[in-house]
Amino acid sequence: MDNGLPISIVIFGASGDLTRRKLVPALFQQRVKGQIPNSINIVGTSRSEFSHDEFRQQMFEGMVELSGIVPDENDWDEFSQDLWYVPGDIGQEADYEKLEQFLGEKEGGPANRLYYLATAPRFFPVIVKELGKQGMATDGDRWSRVVIEKPFGHNLESAVELDEIVHAAFNEHQVYRIDHYMGKETAQNILYFRFLNTIFEPIWNRNYIDHVQITVAESVDVEHRAGYYDNAGVVRDMFPNHFLQLFTLLAMEPPAAFDADAVRNEKVKVLMAIRPIQVEDTVRAQYEGYGQGEGVAENSQTPTYAAMKLYVDNWRWQGVPFYLRSGKALAEKTSQIVIVFKEPPHLLFDLPADYHLTPNFLSLCIQPDEGIHLRFETKVPGASQETKSVDMEFHYPATFGGESLPDAYERLLIDVLNGDPSLFTRSDEIERAWSIVDPVLEAWESSPNAPSLGLYRKGSWGPPGAEAFIARDERVWRLGCGDHAG
Ligand code: BG6
Repeated sequence: MDNGLPISIVIFGASGDLTRRKLVPALFQQRVKGQIPNSINIVGTSRSEFSHDEFRQQMFEGMVELSGIVPDENDWDEFSQDLWYVPGDIGQEADYEKLEQFLGEKEGGPANRLYYLATAPRFFPVIVKELGKQGMATDGDRWSRVVIEKPFGHNLESAVELDEIVHAAFNEHQVYRIDHYMGKETAQNILYFRFLNTIFEPIWNRNYIDHVQITVAESVDVEHRAGYYDNAGVVRDMFPNHFLQLFTLLAMEPPAAFDADAVRNEKVKVLMAIRPIQVEDTVRAQYEGYGQGEGVAENSQTPTYAAMKLYVDNWRWQGVPFYLRSGKALAEKTSQIVIVFKEPPHLLFDLPADYHLTPNFLSLCIQPDEGIHLRFETKVPGASQETKSVDMEFHYPATFGGESLPDAYERLLIDVLNGDPSLFTRSDEIERAWSIVDPVLEAWESSPNAPSLGLYRKGSWGPPGAEAFIARDERVWRLGCGDHAG
C-alpha cells in the first residue's frame, strides 16, 4: 500500500446497491480497524445529482439498513469526512475531466488510484477506455489499479473482447477481477484445511470419495435486480464465478507455494481438466411468479435454478461426479460443499434388513453457520445393533468469537490496496470458466436433448426434476451444515 503517496478510491456506480451494501461498509470497517490510513479519499461517482452530504447520508443509511453495521457516531463522522461525490455520466469525456480535476484538488500532487467498477457490466468497457484515454490509468511512481466486478463478460467471446479493451488501458498487474467468494474466510480456509493438515489429503481422491456436491442456495428472489438478472440467469450469475472458485479450491493440486501465480496456475489446470458438460447432465428451472416480477421480459425463459454434474479428467478425480446446484427463492440461504465418501466394502454387523447406511460426509460450511462438520456412523448404546449418524463440528464463532468473520469485501479491498492479486481471477481462469459454461447455455437454446425449463415453488428446494436428476445416479442431495447437521 505504502509508497508514501496519498490514495484515492474512485467508485463508479456509487448510487448502486453494491456501494452502499458492501463497498462503503467494508472500507468503513477497515478504517475503524486501522487497516487503511486516514488519508484515503473515497470518491463516488454516478449519474445521479447528489451533494457530498447527501451522498454521505445515503451511504450511512444504506450501511445501517443493508449491512447491519451499527457505526459509532464519531467513527462515522471521521470516516465520512473523506467521502466525496462527483456526479458524472460514464459516456461523457468532459465528466472524466471534471472527476480528474476534483481528484487532483483533493490529492494535491501525485497519488495512487484505485478505480472500482461497480456499475452494470455493460458500462465496464467504456469506463476502462475513458480512464485510458484521459491518462488516468498511468502506473509508475504512483500506482493505479482497476477492480472489475463480475460478471466479466457475458460469454467467452465477450470476456476476451473485454480483456482486450482492459489491456489497452491497463497492464495485467493493474487489473483485479473480483469474485467476492474468494474473500470469504471459509473459502480461503479450504486450502488451509487441505494443505495444513495431513489427515484428509491422502483420502482426497477417487479412491475414497464417492462424489462431491456444491450447493449455493439463496432464499431471496431476484428482488429489484431483474434488469441485470433477466439477461444473466442463474448460470452466468453464479457458475463461471462463485461455483468454479469453490470448485477449484476443492479440486486443485497443491501449489508449490502460496503465491498469486502458483495458486492461480493450479486453479487453471484443474479447470482445464473439466470434461465438457453434457446437456443431459443439467437441470434448469424458474420459480413460480418470476415472470410477473418487475423488469422481467414477457415469457422470460431465464432460469433462476440450475443443477449440473461435471467430471474432472485427471488422475485424482477420474470418475468422481461433482454435482452443483444453485437457485433463488429456495428454502434457505446456504452455501456448502459436501464431500461424500465411499461406503464400507462389507457390512459385518447384524443390521436390520431395511438398514440403509448413511455414508460418511464432510461438509465445508461456507455460510451461514460457517464451519466444518464431519458426519459418521455410531452405535446407539445398548444391546441392539441400532446405529445413528452423528457430527463432529467446528464453528467459527464458537472458536474465534462472534465477530471473527469480516465481510469478504473487506479482505479483498485491502488486498487490492496492498497490490496482492492472489485472490483475484486471472484472465485465463475467466476464459476457461466461460468455455465450461458456454456450451451448456448454447445447448439449452438449441439441443433437442436439452432439459425443458422446470418450475418450482418459492421456498422449496427446487424443481422435482432436480431430485430425479441425482436419483438417476442412486444418490440424494445432501446438506450437512446448520440445522441439517447431525
Ligand atoms: C452475487 C450474485 O455475485 O452473489 C447475486 O450476483 C447473489 O445474485 C450473490 O445473490 C450471493 O452472494 P452471497 O455472498 O450472499 O452468497
